[in-house]
Amino acid sequence: MMFDYRLLHPRFGVEVVGADLSRTIDESGCAEILEAFETHSVLLFRGPILDDEQQLAFSRWFGEVQVSFSGNQSGATLFSRQSNIDMETDTLMPPDHRQMKYQEGNRLWHSDSSYRPLGSKCSILSAHETPPSGGDTAFVSLRAAWDGLSDDMKRRCEGLSAMHALSYSRHLTGFSLTPEQEAEAPSALHPLVRVNPVNGRKNLFIGSHASHIDGLPVDEGRRFLGDLLDRATEPAAVYAHAWRDGDVVVWDNRAVLHRATPFDATRHRRLMQRTTIVGEAVLTL
Ligand SMILES: [Fe+2]
Repeated sequence: MMFDYRLLHPRFGVEVVGADLSRTIDESGCAEILEAFETHSVLLFRGPILDDEQQLAFSRWFGEVQVSFSGNQSGATLFSRQSNIDMETDTLMPPDHRQMKYQEGNRLWHSDSSYRPLGSKCSILSAHETPPSGGDTAFVSLRAAWDGLSDDMKRRCEGLSAMHALSYSRHLTGFSLTPEQEAEAPSALHPLVRVNPVNGRKNLFIGSHASHIDGLPVDEGRRFLGDLLDRATEPAAVYAHAWRDGDVVVWDNRAVLHRATPFDATRHRRLMQRTTIVGEAVLTL
């Protein structure tokens, strides 16, 4: 092995020690990183702050980089910017700014782009400016969530599919998409149980974009999804990453949920740059 690995949480996630993403990593190093990604679902790299070209070069090892949603400040580019800083003025945006309101949806447990038909394979988030406290990103493993279900619950999940919609999760925070954004982000149906295409590990596939269960009354499906989400996100299941400038975290959107945690956005700057890798056709058993 070229790198060392340090567990972030007993159930998932590792820090990859010895890999400097600001330098070119050769093919065997990347193969090792890709294998660790499939196994551990969340990878942390510490190092110097990546510039956009370095982040893109690393991201492309994972697959095709997705064009971002237009609601984001960096919309319609290969980057999604997660920040309270106005790109045009370089000043803090007030809490009632539409962009800040849009980002409130990131506080809900979600899988990036699960409202798209192919979803996302993974996200790569690099920390450029971090607040002195708060602003963590919290993660839970949906493999661990699946493993923790009773056989009866597993049987109830098998064969079901959930409808994922950005308009639904944003509605939960009181935010309305424009008609153009609604058209850009149609809903997508995904199986409730997924299988990793490399190692065959099973996981639940849920999150705040999941609006209801196909074929069940909306209220009943929503209650079921809420119950599964509560079980998956119990406190002992959470790894909360406290960011340092230069950190890069890669997470598997097929197998983990994440959410942003609050910080004092009226006083401190936070700038995170995300690339998102296009998903693949979903495998089920
Ligand atoms: Fe996200």
